[in-house]
Amino acid sequence: MKVLVVGSGGREHALVWKLAQSPRITRLICAPGNAGIARHAQTVNIKPDDTNGIVEFATKEKMDLVVVGPEDPLCLGLVDALTARSIRAFGPTKAGARIEGDKAFAKELMQTRSIPTADARMFTKFRDAKTYIATRDTGVVVKAAGLAKGKGVIVCDDPADAIIALERIMVKREFGPAGDTVVVEEKLVGSEVSVLAFVDRQNIYVLENTQDHKPIGEGDTGPNTGGMGAYSPTPEPDDKVLHQIEAEVLVPIVDALHKEDMTYRGLLYAGIMLTAGGPKVLEFNCRFGDPETQPLMMRLRSDLLDAIEAVIDDKLDQITLDWDPRPALCVVVSSAGYPGEYAGGKPITGLDQAETIPDTVVFHAGTRQLGDQVVTAGGRVLGVTALGDTLSHARQRCHEAIARIHFDGAYHRKDIGYRAINRKPK
Ligand code: AMP
Ligand code: GLY
Repeated sequence: MKVLVVGSGGREHALVWKLAQSPRITRLICAPGNAGIARHAQTVNIKPDDTNGIVEFATKEKMDLVVVGPEDPLCLGLVDALTARSIRAFGPTKAGARIEGDKAFAKELMQTRSIPTADARMFTKFRDAKTYIATRDTGVVVKAAGLAKGKGVIVCDDPADAIIALERIMVKREFGPAGDTVVVEEKLVGSEVSVLAFVDRQNIYVLENTQDHKPIGEGDTGPNTGGMGAYSPTPEPDDKVLHQIEAEVLVPIVDALHKEDMTYRGLLYAGIMLTAGGPKVLEFNCRFGDPETQPLMMRLRSDLLDAIEAVIDDKLDQITLDWDPRPALCVVVSSAGYPGEYAGGKPITGLDQAETIPDTVVFHAGTRQLGDQVVTAGGRVLGVTALGDTLSHARQRCHEAIARIHFDGAYHRKDIGYRAINRKPK
């Protein structure tokens, strides 16, 4: 079987690494990929948002399946365009991807279905939003409704900061048209968990729990990033709360999506805050999480291709995923300056030595091959991921691997997994 994966980040490296182990795949290609992906797949220089380019390539090369990693091509309708050419594709259609691409749409869907989420109001005019924020007296979160690479959400401790955030989004237009509509919502308090599920016409198959670490600084301080590390499984939620999330969040949202004149097939990611008042939705994503996918793929023992095909064929009820019971943890190594401005092109050394540590894989996020050197090419550069007997063992392996890797300005958080590792037994 000939499979094309679309994307170039750490998530796509983890997907490609896993798919490369499938005995049924005879040819594996990634567009555009990165230096790490090129070790397991042929890479082809087509940008993920070049819908026509991808469709033409997949047609010409007679690909049997296209797996779309990032949200942008899904929101642009890549799956619709591939399906129109009778090419099987994994991921929701443009209409389904709106659950991530339009936060106002997602919030309205949650409100009409009484899905637990932060109280929120939507605005298209700066003055109206400002007047509303001024009436608040607690923490406020201001979100650009459109896609902003995970950076369009500004969590503020008081209304004065929220007005500054609003100016950044609606007046300075830091996120461009993504900020035409803003969602202003109450700040929720609790610990976050990412609940990822495969979804087909009839079924929802929840994957193992993972937790991301969004802020750049240790102890979850500083601005939000795309994610600085993740691990799986997580101590919370327990089975009872997980069932609650399935019943109160996943089932009604999938039901609502199926009713919007379409069928949602693919991966649905619910970002959940476990609050004192129960689990509440922070966001939905229409694709695998990054970096959550890195520890998940390390733990998945079953063939990912079987699961992907089951989604496309509405046969999720016929598969069972087998997971390594050992925990896995991913530490992201980023460029100096990220999530702000950063420079690329820094040579990276020590990658091979890092992977001699047992059960450790260095997933590439932002790298490229320059002659015989691998150089940095993104804010998040690597996702060093390890399995361990315990979570702190997995983290120790990641840190040992990172100590062998060098590039100018490399940064990582040393506390990934701290909530679970420092947790006091109940
Ligand atoms: P989102 O892209 O909507 O998930 O937001 C990115 C991050 O901002 C989340 O992972 C949370 O850490 C934080 N966040 C979003 N909404 C809220 C909220 N209502 N209360 C507290 N934190 C939030
Ligand atoms: N890790 C957060 C995301 O994938 O959106």
